[in-house]
Amino acid sequence: MSYKTIRRQVISSAIASTISSAWLGIDSAHAAEDSLSAKFSRNKLYFGSAVRIEQVMAEQDLRAVVLRECDCLTPEVALKWDAVEASPGAFDFRSMDGLTNFALANKKQLHGHTLLWHKSIPHWAASSLVEKGGWTLVQRYFQAVLSRYGHAIAQWDVVNEPIETGHRMDGLRNSPFLQAFGVDYIARALWEARQLAPQAKLMINEFGLEYDLRVEHDRRYLFLKLLERLKHAGVPLDGVGLQAHLDLSKGVLPADVLGRFLKDIADLGLFIVISELDVKEYEYVLPVVQRDARVADETRRYLDVALGQPAVRGVTTWGLSDRHSWLRVTKDDFARYPDAWKDGSSPGVNRGLPFDYSFKPKPMYRAIAEADLRRR
Ligand code: XIL
Repeated sequence: MSYKTIRRQVISSAIASTISSAWLGIDSAHAAEDSLSAKFSRNKLYFGSAVRIEQVMAEQDLRAVVLRECDCLTPEVALKWDAVEASPGAFDFRSMDGLTNFALANKKQLHGHTLLWHKSIPHWAASSLVEKGGWTLVQRYFQAVLSRYGHAIAQWDVVNEPIETGHRMDGLRNSPFLQAFGVDYIARALWEARQLAPQAKLMINEFGLEYDLRVEHDRRYLFLKLLERLKHAGVPLDGVGLQAHLDLSKGVLPADVLGRFLKDIADLGLFIVISELDVKEYEYVLPVVQRDARVADETRRYLDVALGQPAVRGVTTWGLSDRHSWLRVTKDDFARYPDAWKDGSSPGVNRGLPFDYSFKPKPMYRAIAEADLRRR
């Protein structure tokens, strides 16, 4: 289907009040030669960010950076089940239509995040899933979003965060989905998605797979076993999202272990995307210059390994500026460093994204920008 046809379809199906050229956010500025988008695409990679369309439209500085730097946009919230179906059968597509129209108008790709996630089940659905016919609720939600966006969105996180250690030998999270539908729910969800969106690339997205910690070793092993089982059973799984929420309290990134893990995934015939990159800081008491250097170094270490793996197709950060980060400085962080933030840096703000609060690029931006040079 052509770009124009898709655009016409999505726009015509969008709710009329959201349609105006202002909402489309068309900007004549083209991506500059040295943008992350340009640099990454020279290496056949994409760069992207999670966004909320309401913020993109309301904040001009954010919009400019999205337009300049990103090839691919991930809805931070708008596609999640509790966001589109807050009450049974009453679908609200306004936010996702807005993002889709913005993306199509500005020639940005979209990453479909996320269908089944234990943290985004609408309240009303939680208890109904285990009742007889519970799967029809999943089907209705899949049908609604995949029939509306299946043509405009090339890749989908069908299942998010299915692994949890300490409960079961197979490492599957004891989620409402597992409780309601048994261990086959992942395969079932992937088949369902394949049927509704035959062209789309189908993925599983997971976190906590980076560090040299016992629990993360276990998570890597269990995740690989899950992928292996699905591939051997012929389940339609095309790719994997590695969230990469890096964390400076977790020690040194083990490059060799990480490299092998990525290769093991690639050897299963799966492509990989780095889907939610950001860095949680630890020593907030340090001068800002040092904090920013640490965040950048961690990013560099991770991307050096990740972009060395040819199966990796792109990198998405979970937001662009510290203003919008989902990472919060915790009570523990404050307790550890009561004197932090006395230097005038914004209190309570984690500096783990490429742009600061007022959209000045930080050393992390440079670490990402230079990552393309190191791609083999
Ligand atoms: C987060 C959003 O950033 C928050 O704004 C929202 O309240 C909860 O979800 N892993 C994921 C993302 O897969 O969907 C989460 O996003 C962050 C962790």
